[in-house]
Amino acid sequence: MTNLLINVDHVGTLRNAREETFPDPVHAAARCEQAGADGIVFHLREDRRHITERDVRLLAETVTGKLDFELSTDEEVVSVCCDVGPDLATLVPERREEVTTEGGLDVTANRSRLSAVIPRLYDAGVDQVSLFVDPVPEQIEAAADTGANCVELHTGDFAEAETEAARREEAERLATGARAAHEAGVRVHAGHGLDYGNFRLFDATVPHVAEVSIGFAVMARAILVGMDQAVRDMCATVKGQRA
Ligand code: PXP
Repeated sequence: MTNLLINVDHVGTLRNAREETFPDPVHAAARCEQAGADGIVFHLREDRRHITERDVRLLAETVTGKLDFELSTDEEVVSVCCDVGPDLATLVPERREEVTTEGGLDVTANRSRLSAVIPRLYDAGVDQVSLFVDPVPEQIEAAADTGANCVELHTGDFAEAETEAARREEAERLATGARAAHEAGVRVHAGHGLDYGNFRLFDATVPHVAEVSIGFAVMARAILVGMDQAVRDMCATVKGQRA
């Protein structure tokens, strides 16, 4: 069954918008786990726009399921990640001016920096190192060559497709990427823009997906129906159980 990890960055965004101490991403993470999430994701950005180092330390102490630390190869953030030693470290591209992560890593262009960072993460006790990539076989094969034992397929183009035909085409691209990853011997994760509506087509088309990382759709629903219900609904969507 596909693992569901919930990203709590947006709770930090809301807190920081008012320079407040609440809502607390650490409390939100506990509620997500109680409601059935298999783990928690956060992205410690270089500009600290949502998650802070205080959150990272407390999440590392309190999350009981899988902890996924998303990061760029920025030296300071890599050393925080090595210090914390999450279960999974997901390397993503990062640009300060972007609203959210905008596409996968160019693994071939960044091969030397990635190949330097990945062994440090394993040495720090991180079991799984993932590279966030577009569903392009060359990038996936390059990711496996760097030593990453997982890839997270970028599902943003699938989620943003404007017509049913375009969405099906993007789902097929993801399926091709997932097969390439499986053949390269790396674990397949996926995320970005997955929601209660588009997950069904994704799941029906894309094989070998061990884990999905979902944030915005759950947090947006949580504002209206509460965190417990929003997470339970997503568990039902991803795991095929009734809410
Ligand atoms: N995976 C990665 C690598 C991401 O950067 C994000 C966005 O923070 C997600 C998954 C989750 O995307 P969304 O918030 O659209 O569900």
